[in-house]
Parts: sequence; structure tokens; C-alpha cells
Amino acid sequence: RIVYVNGDYVPEADATVSVFDRGFLMADGVYEVTSVLGGKLIDFDGHAVRLKRSLDALDMAEPMSKDALLEIHRELVIRNDLTDGMIYLQVTRGAPADRDFAFPGPDVAPTVVLFTQSKPGMAEAPAAKTGISVISIPDIRWGRRDIKTVQLLYPSMGKMMAKAAGADDAWMVEDGFVTEGTSNNAYIVKGDKIITRGLSTDILHGITRAAVLRFAREAQMQVEERNFTIEEAQDADEAFITSASTFVMPVVEIDGAAVGAGTPGRVAKRLREIYLEESR
Ligand code: PDD
Repeated sequence: RIVYVNGDYVPEADATVSVFDRGFLMADGVYEVTSVLGGKLIDFDGHAVRLKRSLDALDMAEPMSKDALLEIHRELVIRNDLTDGMIYLQVTRGAPADRDFAFPGPDVAPTVVLFTQSKPGMAEAPAAKTGISVISIPDIRWGRRDIKTVQLLYPSMGKMMAKAAGADDAWMVEDGFVTEGTSNNAYIVKGDKIITRGLSTDILHGITRAAVLRFAREAQMQVEERNFTIEEAQDADEAFITSASTFVMPVVEIDGAAVGAGTPGRVAKRLREIYLEESR
């Protein structure tokens, strides 16, 4: 695999980053995951805009223009012969001469790393046909979940708690309401209404979420952006998640209780179709 590190395209075994990098020592960095289908980047613009938003929120300078970033994404698709999969992008505050809590000065350049992950046939994931199961766990993350930082320890632990419970993923709950999944946004469907938590600093503003809600509204479906509980979700007709890596994925079981008929719902299936059709 050819990866990008600070201006160079190198074989992954030759890619290096300093041990003093603040991404490594302090999780002082942000990231984006952009999916690729049939060699085409999905929603690159949305990811580029959110990257800038994350960088701004952390007082980090943009390492390069959006066009330059796009060029690197395209180059990696070509160099790795990537058909279906993802491109991971990470920008950290770079590597000062020593470990220090204070941010380094402008002389320290950010570290920019991009790599590809091949996932042949990802749009036809078998899980989309069966649906996935989730458990609920408390949301104990920090208060700026709208910034896409690389602080992913708790979401990783959540994924392990789900596995240990025989489930596929976890939905996080704060003050009695679902915030989001470990690495995706959460939705329920009641009748013809699609319900998902509104945007705030409590959740990541998903790029797939924005696209799916737009397509839903264009298809005259009703969307309600509001909080919901696990009990309401278990009692809903359908549930699903969205993210750049799963697109729209039906959720058929929550904390052991079947949602609706316990099979992927009509609305989730339709939204997945529309999303894949419109983005490809
Ligand atoms: N995760 N919420 C969280 C906490 C996420 O980490 C993600 C994305 C999303 C969905 O955002 P988007 O639709 O822009 O992918 C919501 C990525 C895929 C990841 O960490 O791999």
C-alpha cells in the first residue's frame, strides 16, 4: 500500500512519524474518513468542510487547500488501484522538540497522513440485508463531540462492550437520551417519521446524516430532529445508523429487544438504496 505522509507518497513500511507527535502523545489531532465506490470519492466536499471546522475549533491551521487535499485523495485512489473502500485522513498538531501541554508555536508544522483501506463490494455488505444489533452504554465522552478528534478510546471500548455482549455495536446514552453510535449517527422510524437527534456539540455532525436527511426530505419523507430514548427506539417500527463506512445500516435489535419485526425496515432499505444511487 502506498500512503501519504507530509508531502511524500511512500510504501506503508517506509512511512514514519515522530514519537513526539502530539497526535500520538495527546490525541491532539483530527481526522476524516471518505468512502470510495467504483473509484469515485463519496461526498469529498462535505468531509473537507467538516475537516476545516474541526481544525478551526482546535485553533489548528489548515495544512493545505481543499483542492490540494482532493488531489492527494485522487492520487491515492490511483496509486493503490482502489475500487471500493475508504480513505483515512489525519491532521495532528505536529511534533514539537519535547512533550509539553502548551500548543507549540507556528514553527511546528502539522503532521498530515492519509492512507487507503480496500473493502471490495462494501456497498453490498451482507449486514445490510440482515441488520445489526446494538447495546446501550453510557456516553462518557468529552463535551465537544462535534469536533472529529482522534480521541477514540471510549468508542473503541464501546465496540468491545458490544462484542462481549454478542452485539455488533453500541448506542451511547446521556441524560436518558441516545446521543449516537460509537462511530455513526442513530435514527428511529415511527410510522412515516424519521427521528434523529438534532445537531449540537453532543454529537458528530455526520456527512452521511446530512445527505440522507436531504434525500429523505426530497423524497417527501418526514424528518423530526429531536432526542429519543432507548425505550422509544425499542418500541419504534425501525432503527438504523449512518456513517461514511456503513452508509445506511438497519438496526434490528436494541439491548436484546427486536425492533419492529426484527428485520431491516422499509424506510431504512429505501434510504440505503437512494443514498447509494445518488452518491455513486
Ligand atoms: N465515523 N458519529 C461518530 C461518533 C462518528 O465517529 C462518525 C463517523 C459518525 C458519522 O459521520 P459520517 O457520516 O460523516 O461518517 C457519527 C467514521 C466513519 C470513523 O470513525 O471511522
